[in-house]
Amino acid sequence: MNVLDSQLVRGSLQSLGYTFTDDWRNADVVLYNTCSVREQAENKAYSRIGLVGMRKKENPDIVLGVIGCMAERDGVDMFRRHPQVDLICGPGELDKVPLLIDNVMRTRMSSRFKVQGSELGNKKPDATRDGASTRNFEHGTLNYSLQGNTHRRSSTLAAAEDTLELLDLARSFSPDEHQGSAYVRITRGCNKFCTYCVVPNTRGREVHRAPDAIVEECRKLVESGVVEITLLGQTVNHYHYDHATAQSINGIVQPQVGSIVNNTKAHGLPSVGGSGADKSENVTTFAQLLARIHDEIPQLQRLRFVTSFPRDFGDDILHTIAARPRICRYLHLPVQSGSNRMLKLMNRGYTVEEYLELIARIRRILPDATLASDLICGFPSETEEDHKATCDLMRAAGWKNSFIFKYSPRPGTTAIDRFEDDVPEEIKKARNNELLRIQGDVSEEIHRTWVGKTVRVFVESVSHREQKKQKAAIAATSHVQLRWDATHDNSTTTNATLAPTLAPPPPAQTTSITQLTGRTDGDLIVMFDGDASLVGSIVEVKIHKHAPLALFGEQVV
Ligand code: 5AD
Ligand code: SF4
Repeated sequence: MNVLDSQLVRGSLQSLGYTFTDDWRNADVVLYNTCSVREQAENKAYSRIGLVGMRKKENPDIVLGVIGCMAERDGVDMFRRHPQVDLICGPGELDKVPLLIDNVMRTRMSSRFKVQGSELGNKKPDATRDGASTRNFEHGTLNYSLQGNTHRRSSTLAAAEDTLELLDLARSFSPDEHQGSAYVRITRGCNKFCTYCVVPNTRGREVHRAPDAIVEECRKLVESGVVEITLLGQTVNHYHYDHATAQSINGIVQPQVGSIVNNTKAHGLPSVGGSGADKSENVTTFAQLLARIHDEIPQLQRLRFVTSFPRDFGDDILHTIAARPRICRYLHLPVQSGSNRMLKLMNRGYTVEEYLELIARIRRILPDATLASDLICGFPSETEEDHKATCDLMRAAGWKNSFIFKYSPRPGTTAIDRFEDDVPEEIKKARNNELLRIQGDVSEEIHRTWVGKTVRVFVESVSHREQKKQKAAIAATSHVQLRWDATHDNSTTTNATLAPTLAPPPPAQTTSITQLTGRTDGDLIVMFDGDASLVGSIVEVKIHKHAPLALFGEQVV
């Protein structure tokens, strides 16, 4: 989700004439898009903010902005604790970023030239005003835009004021923008309130985008050369657009804008095992959305989606996928724990037995599907027995990979208020390592079954190993170049006899065959040698070797 947010903000700035640099030290405006899910991510962002702060001492003209979840979570307190920060913007307000930058710059100008009577002031709010709405911003007096935890928008207001939708609608479809693959947001926010998670606080309540807008965005992306689209949402399978709630944005009536689903009434899905189908003509379900994108855009080669919530996975979704070959048979279904006691404390709303029943249903309807999960170890009060239950589930579920996290208490969550973070760090680490080890074994077993088969691979990039090698080669070449130039200079002035003995820099490598990395329809990582121009396309690869993390093969031509 953060990657897409960054792309959309970047696109909106680009359309206003901003250009981008790879090195923040050369930038006039530095924006950090931040994540608050775990403390470690926040610490990393703070250390970057500190670095820019040091740079600002030499060049006070730099504009430093913090956007995303950390901005929303810290609120205006960020200005007090990090005075080097010029603007903050929560993830629900990202369409305001260009205006906020403009505001900071104009404020600086006005204070520099002492414009009389200007109502623009670089006014950083005092910390007691946390949660102030964007209305303050619209008067041009403040340099922050937050949704505000305490002033969460009502569902009616949210739809009517949902200018964030404009950010998605205004995305660029330039063919240079995407290397064959693009994300499309279908839902924002989350209503689940898992006790450990900051997302419902930072990204707000669930808002579903209109199906027409989503299909149109996918179509334009495909027309601009995209072959693979990944639909995004915190609980993507919970997508449910109620056409009756279509509203207007910015006073302009739109056919469909975005609908809010209240968790308590959320399309009355039964628990795991429910069909999830809504027969009402006024509603578009996730299954219907998938079918529309697949059927209305036949040039789209691959349709994927993340992340699914185990409770809302109806058979209608599975049958829709089974009947449509270009929808990937890959389901990311985070379970979080293999212990029912932990699942209850986490407020996940399902049991291990129900999760396993869902997996059995998936295997029945989509026998070729691959599955992945997220797990949290060391949640408050987790015992050895709870941990063992997670290890057992890992062996039984057969995830092709899982993302394993040590519990990190997050301010503003129910867990931090209610439960003591009582599992010592060494135990969290040991459990994390044990889960990694078991997952390694399970992944290797799954990978073994693919050896000898030919798979379709979307080529994502030149492999990291290869990129490192190429960087090192470039560094070595420029080093030689510098030395050669320097000695050559010397030779002309002081030592003419030295010059002819010096070799010129080695010629640049001409072959473009390199190690490429990509993913199968089931999201398995594949490495193979091929031409770098294949990046962004789908090719066939015959697998001849496997490892816990990847498959290795040879392109079939
Ligand atoms: N501590 C550790 N992991 C967390 N996650 C979310 N919140 C926390 C937390 N407080 C993990 C969950 C989620 C993934 C995106 O991040 O596993 O699925
Ligand atoms: Fe967080 Fe739970 Fe929502 Fe996932 S489903 S974003 S873990 S609250």
